[in-house]
Amino acid sequence: MKTTISQVSKHEGKEVTIGAWLANKRSSGKIAFLQLRDGTGFIQGVVVKAEVPEETFQSAKNLTQETSLYVTGTVVEDTRSPFGYELQVKEIEVISESVDYPITPKEHGTEFLMDNRHLWLRSKKQHAVMKIRNEIIRSTYSFFHENDYVKIDPPILTGSSAEGTTELFHTKYFDEEAYLSQSGQLYMEAAAMAFGKVFSFGPTFRAEKSKTRRHLIEFWMIEPEMAFMNHEESLEVQEQYVSYIAENVRNNCALELKTLDRDITKLEKIQAPFPRITYDEAIQLLKEKGFDDIEWGEDFGAPHETAIAESFDKPVFITHYPADIKAFYMKPDPKRTEVVLCADLIAPEGYGEVIGGSQRIDDLELMEQRYQEHNLTGDAYQWYLELRKYGSVPHSGFGLGLERTVAWFSGVEHVRETIPFPRLLNRLYP
Ligand code: 4AD
Ligand code: MG
Repeated sequence: MKTTISQVSKHEGKEVTIGAWLANKRSSGKIAFLQLRDGTGFIQGVVVKAEVPEETFQSAKNLTQETSLYVTGTVVEDTRSPFGYELQVKEIEVISESVDYPITPKEHGTEFLMDNRHLWLRSKKQHAVMKIRNEIIRSTYSFFHENDYVKIDPPILTGSSAEGTTELFHTKYFDEEAYLSQSGQLYMEAAAMAFGKVFSFGPTFRAEKSKTRRHLIEFWMIEPEMAFMNHEESLEVQEQYVSYIAENVRNNCALELKTLDRDITKLEKIQAPFPRITYDEAIQLLKEKGFDDIEWGEDFGAPHETAIAESFDKPVFITHYPADIKAFYMKPDPKRTEVVLCADLIAPEGYGEVIGGSQRIDDLELMEQRYQEHNLTGDAYQWYLELRKYGSVPHSGFGLGLERTVAWFSGVEHVRETIPFPRLLNRLYP
């Protein structure tokens, strides 16, 4: 019976065949332990000299790392292994031998591992991180579908900027100038006026010269946009969504979290409602924490965000930032127009801003004025303004950065390990 490692529990006591690679191996004169992986999981295969033909035992002892195999054996329960099962091997068929695999069980430097990313993805830790990423993606779709959102795909090639003009990737679109999308938001606003509640999930690009643990050049963003929803209501969607995906990761990725040694108690705290503080309160808090020279009107850097997050045991919303340091489309607070109806969600443990969101300007004149103040031109000018002309409504939306969320849930330090092939300031390979 041919099966996969993820399915072996259904075949306890039976003989199965698994297509696998040899991840690692230990052997003595009488027994060989094969660490096998097939993509769906990891299992130990045990080859006992006295129980197999001599030829099979010798072949097991000589196997090299990452050789591909068909392994046949009996599935037995193994309470010592975190996986719960092992394979008593009867037969090994080598498919293709692997010679001098570069990533050995010893420690390697990050640059070396990144150069070998196409192979590094096979390792147990990277496998666990990608499975957590997959679970966040899966539960994102189910959350928004359960809540009546329509998935809408904004374009990647655009004629306009959504988040400021300094970080755009320029490209030629035949004879025109075009950019790679920084955010699908402007298009999602049009979609919300057509479908009510929408979400997108796609790649976005920022030509940012930032080399930090939180920045990628190409990253994936989930961008919901809701017609007839104000800023407060949007915050509720955000905390429900983040709590939902965290719960799914806890429930469906227990083995992966264990592989990563993730402190689960930290993830158990991710439950709505999340605390909210205003930008003004955040400034106050920072001053109390010894950031004496921070002034009202300045944006927060990573050390500020980390310090603020430390005062809470859950992710925290910082709301009502000064208009001057936020994007052109954010709606001013009617009670105090120098601040906008926006929030950043700051994750604990130094993972920083995972969500940026706001209520959008719905007034045509004010939006025109903002376009002028920000010296914005380009394709979106006409159509984006028209959304305010034909039945404008209050609407809000937000963007969650997938990689920062994966890093946070997995407990990995740097976002470069949370995407299969990271694009970094100094890296376009592999
Ligand atoms: O705060 P940002 O720039 O917001 C927007 O793009 C809005 N248009 C979203 C919206 O309202 N529809 O980006 C949103 C999130 C950030 O909070 C962060 O998690 C992630 O995207 N992000 C990055 N992740 C990795 N590398 C980068 N360079 C990132 N820049 C933003
Ligand atoms: Mg932001």
